[in-house]
Amino acid sequence: MTRTLALHVVQDRRAGGSLAAERIAAAVAQRPDLVLGVATGSTPEPVWSALVERALDLSRVRAFALDEYLDIAADHPERYAAVVEREITRPLGLDPRLVRTPGDDGRDEGAPQRYERAIAEAGGVDLQVLGIGRNGHIAFNEPGSAADSRTRIARLSEETRRDNARFFRSLDEVPRSCITQGVGTILEARSIILLAFGPSKAAAITAALEGPVTANVPASALQRHPDVTVVVDESAASALRQCRPSAAAERA
Ligand code: GLP
Repeated sequence: MTRTLALHVVQDRRAGGSLAAERIAAAVAQRPDLVLGVATGSTPEPVWSALVERALDLSRVRAFALDEYLDIAADHPERYAAVVEREITRPLGLDPRLVRTPGDDGRDEGAPQRYERAIAEAGGVDLQVLGIGRNGHIAFNEPGSAADSRTRIARLSEETRRDNARFFRSLDEVPRSCITQGVGTILEARSIILLAFGPSKAAAITAALEGPVTANVPASALQRHPDVTVVVDESAASALRQCRPSAAAERA
């Protein structure tokens, strides 16, 4: 298996968004019913706005979100199903019937398996857009999540709850449990675009790309994936010592 981790250091998040949007556009041109893995959080926002600017026909794209809060009111605006609807489905013109979030069809013990099955029935994720938490989490796979973990009900770390408190009125309101695709589930996506912007992500990016592959840094499992594109700004790349932008990335 050839490893092709392409590192792109871009000027700012807008440039990072355009680069990722270009990749998505190319993938949709090849396959109009692309299975796109979508991520929430502030990092991918420039990706969605760059895609909106391109005004593509994305009506056949099928999308799967990474994760969902569990202990949150059904009508809460920060429920990821609502965030995906507001920030991705509607502005991009996706067909809401083709967009899924874990927990859409129940939040019981069987929900994680049903989600795995839905992804498998779609033929797997073609292209996954991914952010990273300051503690190296991907989706809601907190430190300690194994590289072969599957979609499951999990608990948020206090660090992640504090980080996500900015989306809520108070820390107390931040949910404590979630449904998340597992690290192993995410690794099955055929291609992955990992994005990180800002100095607060520098340590996590360095540990993920240059550190040992360990469950303590769930994103480090990406080192074992055959097709990962990393898009970071200079501050997120500032602690990298071994990874250099690939030749192809430098030309971009
Ligand atoms: C959240 C999400 C992740 C996201 C990460 C970083 O908790 N579950 O999918 O990648 O934290 O968020 P942000 O991009 O806002 O920094």
